[in-house]
Amino acid sequence: MATIHTAMVTGEHDTVAASAQQIHDSFILQQKLTDQDRKDLMSAVPKGFIKLDKEFHKLAASLAEAGRKQNTKKQRQLYDEMTRNCIACHGKYVSDRFPGVNAAKN
Ligand code: HEC
Repeated sequence: MATIHTAMVTGEHDTVAASAQQIHDSFILQQKLTDQDRKDLMSAVPKGFIKLDKEFHKLAASLAEAGRKQNTKKQRQLYDEMTRNCIACHGKYVSDRFPGVNAAKN
């Protein structure tokens, strides 16, 4: 995300596209799981988490697209939405690891 930020504010659209694509591709539910593994994972993880993860996945794809289209304004909007999404997930589901994130309060 830091790389994307720098690339976005300096107009390095290719880097925005490549880095956002990389985030998109590392999305866990997208990886090559067997059907059974996918089922196990889905049933072990709360629904809200899966929803945030899916949203995040879509946002990353859109950001890669905005990079390819050299659309700085759109990149900024999507970057902002992704940041909100990072904070929402960490604040709600990773509070042990990130006790300082207080998404619910703001
Ligand atoms: C759908 C939930 C979810 C979203 C969205 C999410 N994360 Fe996370 N993140 C996690 C979880 C769960 C962990 C803890 C993983 C662990 O401890 O192994 C984590 C851990 C991390 C870590 C620590 C990794 C490490 O190895 O120390 C960083 C940095 C991080 N996330 C950054 C981000 C950024 C930046 C975004 C948004 C662009 C983001 N995350 C979006 C769930 C999420």
